[in-house]
Amino acid sequence: ATERTLSIIKPDAVAKNAIGDIIARFEHAGLRVVAAKMLHLSEDKAGGFYAEHKERPFFNDLVGFMTSGPVVVQVLEGEDAIAKNRDLMGATNPKEAAAGTIRADFAETIDANAVHGSDSAESAEREISYFFGNDEICPR
Ligand code: CMP
Repeated sequence: ATERTLSIIKPDAVAKNAIGDIIARFEHAGLRVVAAKMLHLSEDKAGGFYAEHKERPFFNDLVGFMTSGPVVVQVLEGEDAIAKNRDLMGATNPKEAAAGTIRADFAETIDANAVHGSDSAESAEREISYFFGNDEICPR
């Protein structure tokens, strides 16, 4: 089915000037960018986004990293967009990510792992509405 998912190009990948290379991978896999913006997240905005991880030992480092520089937040649309994006990203830990995935090619550590992608339909809905109003999404 046609789905939407939230993608974030994280500060490490933006700093590497890899925004275009990463979006090209989405487009070449048949996903369409239907919304996008660059943001420098505040602690509150990043902490709210990762609220489900609040009690995890890595939460403070995660928020610190996600606020360390600008990110590019996008809504990707396409057939099986949620799973397709996760396949393109590879495992959360770049050291375990399959060859040819975004994290294998652009990331070094589990914190600075280049991209985020929604992990389920429920997360996608919450994450998309966390960053975008309906009037900011352009179906195509
Ligand atoms: P992301 O998909 O954005 O979701 C939460 C992030 O926390 C994850 O990518 C990693 O960058 C980061 N993180 C750091 N340590 C861990 C860990 N042990 N398990 C999962 N995520 C972690």
